Parts: sequence; structure tokens; C-alpha cells
Amino acid sequence: MEKDSRIQSHPILKFKRGNKLKFKFDGKRVEGYENESIAAALFASGVRVFSKSKRYNNPEGWFCGIGKCCSCLMRVDGIPNIRTCITPVREGMRVERQGHKGVLPDQPDIKVERKEKDVQVLVIGGGPAGLGAGITSGRLGLNTLVIDENPIPGGQLIKQSHKFFGSKAEYARLRGFEIAGIMFEELKDCGGEYLTETSAIGYYGRGKTGKHKLLAVQNGADGFLLLEINTAYIAVTTGAYENYFPFPGNYMPGVYGAGGVQTLMNVYGVKPGNKALIVGAGNVGLIVGYQLLQARVEVEALIEATSQIGGYLVHASKLARLGVPILLRHTIKEVKGEECVEGATIVEIDEDMQVIEGTEQELDVDLVLISVGLSASSKILSQAGCRRMFVRELGGWLSIHNENMETTIDGIYMAGDAAGIAEASTAMLEGKIVGAAIAEKEGCSLEEAGRIRENAIRELTEIKKSASLQEVAKGKGKCMQRWNELKKV
Ligand SMILES: Cc1cc2nc3c(=O)[nH]c(=O)nc-3n(C[C@H](O)[C@H](O)[C@H](O)COP(=O)(O)OP(=O)(O)OC[C@H]3O[C@@H](n4cnc5c(N)ncnc54)[C@H](O)[C@@H]3O)c2cc1C
Ligand code: FES
Repeated sequence: MEKDSRIQSHPILKFKRGNKLKFKFDGKRVEGYENESIAAALFASGVRVFSKSKRYNNPEGWFCGIGKCCSCLMRVDGIPNIRTCITPVREGMRVERQGHKGVLPDQPDIKVERKEKDVQVLVIGGGPAGLGAGITSGRLGLNTLVIDENPIPGGQLIKQSHKFFGSKAEYARLRGFEIAGIMFEELKDCGGEYLTETSAIGYYGRGKTGKHKLLAVQNGADGFLLLEINTAYIAVTTGAYENYFPFPGNYMPGVYGAGGVQTLMNVYGVKPGNKALIVGAGNVGLIVGYQLLQARVEVEALIEATSQIGGYLVHASKLARLGVPILLRHTIKEVKGEECVEGATIVEIDEDMQVIEGTEQELDVDLVLISVGLSASSKILSQAGCRRMFVRELGGWLSIHNENMETTIDGIYMAGDAAGIAEASTAMLEGKIVGAAIAEKEGCSLEEAGRIRENAIRELTEIKKSASLQEVAKGKGKCMQRWNELKKV
């Protein structure tokens, strides 16, 4: 295994590693730190191959780093299919790569307890949208529980080391990870409860009392807790996942989601590689390019298939000033390597996205970061039976919702990226609208709730006038039109 790739000094971030601990990986002793995920601890110790593909036995690595794909699944303490990217490493753990055949858990190792919980408002997902909803409903007097499957509160904010634009109410001029900490404290101050490592796994309709029933599993050091949650209102704020696309070698360790690399680098302080190619010039690709340079990773090129940079020009200019070539109308042809990425070929494409022969360039890279857009993650809403529609401008399929972020099922709301891909300030404001709309429906602090909701809707309308959010505004308009048709408004 390679030497430790943990980052020791960083211009912005200070990594709070807890005590050193030891665990076993495929029978060998590995060291990690408290507060690290299993995947981060393994990567820092030089492990790149997380599994082998079933059909071709190809080496595969992790991808999203936030629990949204299945590329990091391993057997942990005898239990298969554990998402190692969101499971904290613990002293004495037994971690093993999974074979091609499914093997049942080692029975004696599994401890599952069961508990019922009654709340007025359940928020699923503790990013800026979920925290915004939880803080508002808590402040307005509702008994609120926020659950999140990641071990650290704040959703994607925790990996954002840049300062935010926008208004003071949405924490402008603070860095993303600072905002996450502040919002988490605000939630606790207004009596809200936040459970980490707790995944919502299924919606079970309304129980005898008329309340919504939802099952969640909390993962802890001593085993699992199955939570049966009865609640009058549910807010689904489960965020988004990173898109993927086909090219030869895309499975190989070294090809990662750009957001996944942000998590590894900015949350866990692990250097992802030495030389990177970034595919996609949206905001995530541009921002991660700068963050790679901060972590002393060279960026060989950032390529974009269209003729335009999709993200903010301010981020692109910063990268260009630092000497990163931004190549428009280019795509990746293939990556090369045996066990890990050892190089990549890029190529020019024409207006019809066709490869221009003879324009291939070989890049000496060990990292390929994919940032080709996000899709809304809202499976719980689909499972609950909320009516859906496809809205290209909002990132694909999502549940139909109105201005108050209410879905077609009474008492189920949504906000943030799950309700259409936008950005963090939009997520916070939509969360606020949800918290206030629920309080109004419940007849709680009516006047204040109405004022908060109206102000947030006004602010959101203003934000959406900016050039970067005009597509979002168009998509939301389509969604509202469908809502009106369904409800015959
Ligand atoms: C990968 C990625 C990288 C990004 N990078 C940047 C960036 O660099 N700069 C920038 O300005 N914006 C970035 N964004 C955009 C911005 O962060 C998002 O718009 C914003 O975080 C959306 O907030 P949210 O609360 O809707 O979702 P999120 O912040 O994604 O929070 C959703 C939360 O829901 C939890 N969750 C999901 N499913 C379940 C479940 N079943 N049970 C329990 N919990 C669940 C997740 O663990 C997560 O914490 C990024 C977004 C993504 C997805
Ligand atoms: S679920 Fe762990 S890398 Fe995607």
C-alpha cells in the first residue's frame, strides 16, 4: 500500500482528525482516524480497488462519496452491502471487499433494536434545504426531527470551502462548511432534533391515527436501530446525485465524481491524486478545479463538450488565471491503465457532438473527475406515490409541487435539489417556505409563519431573475402549470 495521502496543511481548511485507530481490511491491519469514513481511511492508506465487476472482473473504485451510488459497498463486521463512504471507521472493524456472489450476513454479528417515534414534522435530509425547513418549523413551535444518512450534518455544504454570494439571510460571505455548522446550531437552539447516520428506507402510508408512517435505520457503533416514525408532515430534502456517462475505462479507480472528490479532499483531508482532468465546466467542475489546486493537485485540463462554460465566469477566470487550460468542444475518449487510471485521451468534437478525427491528445493524469450535471434524488417521494413529471430545466424527473413546495400527497413537502437542481441559497429558501407552510397548515404562529413564507417566496423570485437561474425559473413555471392542471385551479 502507498504511503499516507492525508493532507497536512491547507490554505483554508483545518482537518480535525480524532484519535488514531486500527481496523482490518481483507485481513490486513490498516490505520484510520476517528471522524473518517471507512472509504476515506482506506483511500488515505493507498487502497484504490474497492471491488471487481461481476461480468469482466474489472477493477472498480468508489464514485459519489455521499451514499448515492453503490460503488463503495463492502462487507463490514460480517454485514454485506455497507456504504463505506458514509460509514465512520471504528476501532477493530473488519472490512472486506465483496466477492461476485452475494453472501448472507454472519448472523451473530447483527444487532437490531426497534423503536417508535412520534413527531409533528419529519425532515428527511439535513442539507441547507432540510436545515432551513427544520429551523423554521422548530422556531414556529413544531416538534421537528431531521434525519440524515451522512455522519456529518449539513449535506453538500460541508465540502464547500468557498464563500457564498447572495443575501445576509442566506449567510452570504461565509464559507459553506461554516454555514453548515451555524445552521446545525440554530436547529438545536430552536429545539429541533438531528439524527446522523439515519437513512429513510421506506414510506408506509398512513397508520390508524391518520399520521404518515416512515421507516428509517440508524447505524451506530453498537448495531442498528430500526425507527418507526409517525408524523403529521414529511419534508423530503434528499438532495441530488452526480450524473455519469459512458466511455471506455469509466469504471476504473481514478474516475470519480467531482463532488465525491470534494468530500474526500475537503471533508476528510485526503489528497485524491496528483494530476487531474476535469470533465464538465459547470459550477461543480470549476469550483473543484480550484480546490484541487489548493490541495496541491495539478489540473492538466478542464474540458467541456459544449461551446460555453456552464458555471459562473468568475470561477472560470480564476482557474484560467492560474494556468488551467479550459478546452471547450472537447470530450474524453478513454482512460488508460491496468488497475487504476494512468492516463486519458481527450478529443475535439463538432457542433453535432461528433468526434473530429485526428484531434486526440494524450494526458498524463491519474485522476478523472466527472462533473456532467446532477439529477434530483427523490426516490422516497416516488415510492410514496407523489405524482411526477420530467422537467429538463430542473435536472429530470421530480415530484410535482406548488409554490409552497407541497406535493400531490397531503402533508408531504419537498425542497432543495430534490425539488429541482438549483443551488444552496435556493435550497435554504425553499426549506424556509416548507417550514412556514407546514406551521400555517397546523395553525401554529399563523401570522409569523405567513410573513416568513411570503418573504421567502419574494426573495426566491428575486434570486431566480439572475441569469444563472433563469432555466430553473422556467422549470418551476412548468411544474406549477402542471400542478394547476391537476388541481384544476
Ligand atoms: C455532489 C454535489 C456537489 C456540489 N458542489 C457544490 C459546490 O462546490 N459549490 C456550490 O455552490 N454548490 C455545490 N453543489 C450544489 C449545492 O450544494 C446544492 O444545491 C445544495 O447543497 C442543495 O441542498 P439540499 O439540502 O437540497 O441537498 P444536499 O445538500 O445534497 O443535502 C441532502 C441530504 O440528504 C441526505 N439524504 C439523502 N437521502 C437520504 C435518505 N434516504 N435518508 C436520510 N438522508 C438522506 C444526504 O445525506 C444529504 O446530506 C453541489 C451539489 C452536489 C449534489
Ligand atoms: S455510495 Fe459510496 S461512493 Fe457512492
